[in-house]
Amino acid sequence: MTRILSVHSFRGGTGKSNLSANLAAAFAARGLRVGVFDTDLASPGIHVLFGFTAGPESHTLNDHIQGSILIEKCSHDVTPASMAGGKGRIFLVPAAMEGDRKPGCCGKAMKSSGSMTPCSASARASAWIC
Ligand SMILES: Nc1ncnc2c1ncn2[C@@H]1O[C@H](COP(=O)(O)OP(=O)(O)OP(=O)(O)O)[C@@H](O)[C@H]1O
Ligand SMILES: [Mg+2]
Repeated sequence: MTRILSVHSFRGGTGKSNLSANLAAAFAARGLRVGVFDTDLASPGIHVLFGFTAGPESHTLNDHIQGSILIEKCSHDVTPASMAGGKGRIFLVPAAMEGDRKPGCCGKAMKSSGSMTPCSASARASAWIC
């Protein structure tokens, strides 16, 4: 049975991304297939925690919402190498990665500093499904 858990806070910087990523890793370590949906369109950051960077085919939730890409194409296997021998998997749907694609924008700043603070905040939420 698929279960859906949502992680949300009305404030920024309260640990939503770290909690979501750690929960996903904990469940995957127990052999579950976990889908992580980063719905923080204004300040996406979970992909940084999973070490996922944007390539030309790195479609996102934002691409899907705009109607051009099937949601299946927006899911990326970010299972850590340390879990490769197990049954658990982590699939990430990044919210948006325009910052990574455009040098000088917020994604570059996030990667270099490890902080989410360069991005402005609204509708802050991260959801994941297992
Ligand atoms: N349990 C924790 N204990 C200590 N520091 C933490 C904990 N969880 C997160 N942090 C730190 O707090 C900061 C914010 O964490 P995180 O990016 O997960 O929050 P967020 O709510 O997703 O932020 P944003 O609203 O910007 O997306 C980071 O520097 C992170 O390392
Ligand atoms: Mg976050």
